[in-house]
Amino acid sequence: MSPTTPSNNQGDNMSVPSAPVIVIGGGIVGASIAWHLAKERDVIIIAEAVGGVATPKSFCWLNATSTTQKYYYDFRRRSMARWAEIGRELPDLPIYWGGNLTCDTTPDERAKFQDLHHAWGTDIRRMNQTDLVTLEPEIDDAEFSSVEWGLHVPEEGTLEAHVAAAQLIAKAKSMGARVLTTSVTGFLKDGNRRISGVVTGCGEIRGSHVILAAGLGSVPLLATENIKLPLKSSEGLLVNTAPTKRRYLNASVHLQGLHMRQRLDGRICFGASFAGGKPGDEPKATAEELFKQLQKTFKKGSELEFGNYTVGVRPDPEDGYPILGSTGLDGLDVAVMHSGVTNAALVGELLSKKILHGVEDPMLDRFRLDRFKKSYARL
Ligand SMILES: Cc1cc2nc3c(=O)[nH]c(=O)nc-3n(C[C@H](O)[C@H](O)[C@H](O)COP(=O)(O)OP(=O)(O)OC[C@H]3O[C@@H](n4cnc5c(N)ncnc54)[C@H](O)[C@@H]3O)c2cc1C
Ligand SMILES: *[C@@H]1O[C@H](CO)[C@@H](O)[C@H](O)[C@H]1NC(C)=O
Ligand SMILES: *[C@@H]1O[C@H](CO)[C@@H](O)[C@H](O)[C@H]1NC(C)=O
Ligand SMILES: *[C@@H]1O[C@H](CO)[C@@H](O)[C@H](O)[C@H]1NC(C)=O
Ligand SMILES: *[C@@H]1O[C@H](CO)[C@@H](O)[C@H](O)[C@H]1NC(C)=O
Ligand SMILES: *[C@@H]1O[C@H](CO)[C@@H](O)[C@H](O)[C@H]1NC(C)=O
Repeated sequence: MSPTTPSNNQGDNMSVPSAPVIVIGGGIVGASIAWHLAKERDVIIIAEAVGGVATPKSFCWLNATSTTQKYYYDFRRRSMARWAEIGRELPDLPIYWGGNLTCDTTPDERAKFQDLHHAWGTDIRRMNQTDLVTLEPEIDDAEFSSVEWGLHVPEEGTLEAHVAAAQLIAKAKSMGARVLTTSVTGFLKDGNRRISGVVTGCGEIRGSHVILAAGLGSVPLLATENIKLPLKSSEGLLVNTAPTKRRYLNASVHLQGLHMRQRLDGRICFGASFAGGKPGDEPKATAEELFKQLQKTFKKGSELEFGNYTVGVRPDPEDGYPILGSTGLDGLDVAVMHSGVTNAALVGELLSKKILHGVEDPMLDRFRLDRFKKSYARL
């Protein structure tokens, strides 16, 4: 709270009034948090890589249906709605609501999936052969004739997440936020053992509050305070074609062993799974093999050219759910997750409300770090 802009900031009334909020991380999660905060407060974003580490290597699918836990489904769905709102506020945001078409599970699995999500209120449609060919006329008919029917969820989408992160950070800057491209190596504490800033490659920086959204980099940072962040990591290979003017795909399409979407710049992004396939010993050869498979999938696949490939590392909490909010140290919150592209919009909204106004949305309850305490105590 700066002296010239009084606000109803009850949550932080112990802090130095004019100190900025520090966000560590410039991937999609840090960018969303910083943009939400910057509307009301001074913000400093500190990141080694502005645009993120996992973020530019993500499939970037915005979906709610991945989970069988209703509370996580609700969270993801609310985040997709928040992305739609942000998209209305920032019309250049590279978001595309093209839906998800699934043909790669067994008919039995698909039927169960449809029932569950229908009951939860997802707009989920069964697509017969005719529907499939109408939705995706560029896909070779043989691909669809081998499946009886597919499932279409029109409300799902994709986001060019690294572009979105850069845009959100640029908007935050235009509202007064500062960006420092450097490493954070530790935390500062005041006399009451409250976190009061960070130690960086450019010296010490004080803040009223610190939010750690550093993906896998969050683990060693919390370890400096003897806090264990239970993350595992796994690699995922995704391939891009060269840009093409032809519209090859409407939806994010999931065929057996090949998940693909077309980016807004025309490149098709694909992998053995949307989550990125295993890179194997020779990622380049794996990528080229997948590219041949992609070409066969389209009627005019021979016109496509190989572009490049990425091997990303997922920051994946051990139980699969986001880790959000209090770390147990006053003044320090955390936001680390897989599905960060889907979740970043709501995470930014809810954590900024918590930090600026002391209002903790009930949806955050399930995602606190201290849920792991019990299981650790038993070790
Ligand atoms: C192959 C693959 C496919 C995926 N598919 C999807 C998908 O379809 N949908 C979806 O929602 N999610 C998907 N994900 C997950 C998603 O990409 C991540 O959850 C998300 O990008 C995490 O964003 P982030 O901002 O937390 O982290 P990152 O993008 O990793 O950014 C971390 C930031 O912290 C900074 N940092 C780290 N340590 C320090 C330090 N010590 N000091 C200063 N800065 C530091 C980095 O420089 C960077 O700016 C996928 C991931 C992969 C790898
Ligand atoms: C939705 O995307 C996430 C990645 O964000 C993935 O883990 C999940 O499995 C996807 N949904 C489905 C239905 O597979
Ligand atoms: C396929 O479904 C559509 C409605 O989605 C329907 O109009 C059409 O008759 C169906 N076609 C066949 C061959 O069943
Ligand atoms: C997308 O779907 C529409 C029908 O919903 C169809 O007319 C159009 O040709 C499709 N485009 C591509 C590129 O598949
Ligand atoms: C979206 O695609 C994924 C991956 O194929 C699949 O598991 C999921 O069921 C799909 N969602 C819907 C609603 O079809
Ligand atoms: C892949 O190609 C695109 C488009 O040319 C480029 O923006 C991106 O940085 C490249 N990625 C890698 C890992 O080379």
